Amino acid sequence: MSNVAVVTGASSGFGEQFARRFARAGDDLVLVARRRDRLEALAAELTSEHGVAVLVIEADLSQAEGARRVMDQIEDAGLKPSALVNSAGFGTAERFADEDPARIADEIRVNVLALTLLSRLLMPSLLAAPRGVLVNISSTAAHQPIPTMAVYAATKAYVLSLTEALWHEAQGTSLRVLALCPGPTETGFFEAARSDRFRVGTVANVGESVDRAWKTLQRPSSPPSLTIGLQHRINALGARLVPRRIVLAIAARTAAGPQNA
Ligand SMILES: NC(=O)c1ccc[n+]([C@@H]2O[C@H](COP(=O)([O-])OP(=O)(O)OC[C@H]3O[C@@H](n4cnc5c(N)ncnc54)[C@H](OP(=O)(O)O)[C@@H]3O)[C@@H](O)[C@H]2O)c1
Repeated sequence: MSNVAVVTGASSGFGEQFARRFARAGDDLVLVARRRDRLEALAAELTSEHGVAVLVIEADLSQAEGARRVMDQIEDAGLKPSALVNSAGFGTAERFADEDPARIADEIRVNVLALTLLSRLLMPSLLAAPRGVLVNISSTAAHQPIPTMAVYAATKAYVLSLTEALWHEAQGTSLRVLALCPGPTETGFFEAARSDRFRVGTVANVGESVDRAWKTLQRPSSPPSLTIGLQHRINALGARLVPRRIVLAIAARTAAGPQNA
């Protein structure tokens, strides 16, 4: 029986690149997102290029039952996935007092709730696989609170914390768990955020970032998290050592954009 990788957010960016990676490795796929047309186009391409079977699941993960519905369709298809990449997510750059409460709820349901429940619902299958993989996409935003991106940074801190704990729980099993923490990366993310304020400093290439994650996952003892880029790793370390009010001041200035630096 071939491996099956479930990828949320597969219609764009990190999710799409992970889907391509698994297909190149010969794994069958379950592609999840709202934009069915994009998922179907990708599925057709990957099937014709790599001969893999692809199940497309159109799902809105901001719905409370989103993760459960995805799981139902996976079970109905009789699949026992060996890999899960939770990439579906989005951000908002606004002062908290100005943020739309409905968008906050969606952001938390997609970035936090759906990711957590899908990880949990698929965990028995991932643990049963000879070489299971769980990748949750966090962010460099996880390394410190970010004024004017408060909810987004908090969701990503949650993802990092959850995933590192799961990494530890998976020790001694055949499941590899990784929290991927990219910095600004060229994807559909900035458009979905309706803001260029996330576009800070050097913007990374998504294919290269996924390659890094893929190589890290091949290591016999892969780490709990991977922050992409030396500068971001230094910043993450600094955020642990420097007093919080200074960390917050730097984060606020960076998030305000170059015009305010
Ligand atoms: N790009 C960056 O700078 C960056 C940096 C750090 C972390 N990240 C994280 O990387 C992950 C992937 O983002 P990306 O950069 O690849 O951006 P992207 O190109 O905008 O991709 C986001 C994906 O999430 C899916 N998605 C969003 N809302 C959804 C919903 N309600 N239900 C189902 N799927 C939904 C989108 O699909 P549909 O629109 O078709 O539903 C899309 O496939 C996110 O978790 C993001 O926070 C991105």
